[in-house]
Amino acid sequence: MMSTPPTADGSGPLDAHRFKESMARVTGPVAIVTAVHDGAPHGTTVSSLASLSMSPAMITVALDNGSALLAIVRETGAFGVNVLSARQHEAAMRFASRRDDRFAGVAWEFADGLPRLTGSSAWLRCAVSAEIPGGDHTLLLGTVRDCSTSDATPLVYSRRTFGTHAALPELTGAAS
Ligand SMILES: Cc1cc2nc3c(=O)[nH]c(=O)nc-3n(C[C@H](O)[C@H](O)[C@H](O)COP(=O)(O)O)c2cc1C
Repeated sequence: MMSTPPTADGSGPLDAHRFKESMARVTGPVAIVTAVHDGAPHGTTVSSLASLSMSPAMITVALDNGSALLAIVRETGAFGVNVLSARQHEAAMRFASRRDDRFAGVAWEFADGLPRLTGSSAWLRCAVSAEIPGGDHTLLLGTVRDCSTSDATPLVYSRRTFGTHAALPELTGAAS
């Protein structure tokens, strides 16, 4: 049973720890968003990827206002989304780190001018349609120009742990 009353009604400060713990229970995708700066690839791990619109095809990604990737995408107006596979959890950590050589030792190629990682579950090439400020993050609205998929099992992130999706045995095949 939920024992804690809501605190986000303006009557008092929201408990930051409780908010983090609540959102840690939202299982999300893991993607590496890429862009190009002075001819060099840049990539950042995100779990904020979400589908937005079918017609036109649009997605959203929320980036920290201090993100180096956000600064690049603001200049170029384009980004790639590599939806990671369950085999790419090390890349997820690498592209979440502060290191400058995130692409070293990682298989990738330029796809229509944007860095595409080999072995991803899906690939989307996007043009920035809008930026919406949201607290300490910025929501990027991207119109999808091109996309493709592979059979690789997707990586998911839940309670600060990487995993993958598994259908409930009694429902296998029911959702397809
Ligand atoms: C699983 C996971 C999900 C993340 N999701 C996001 C996200 O949605 N938005 C964001 O700005 N940072 C996210 N981060 C943190 C960034 O990857 C990290 O701060 C990165 O170093 C930022 O790089 P940049 O400054 O080069 O853009 C996530 C990290 C991890 C491990």
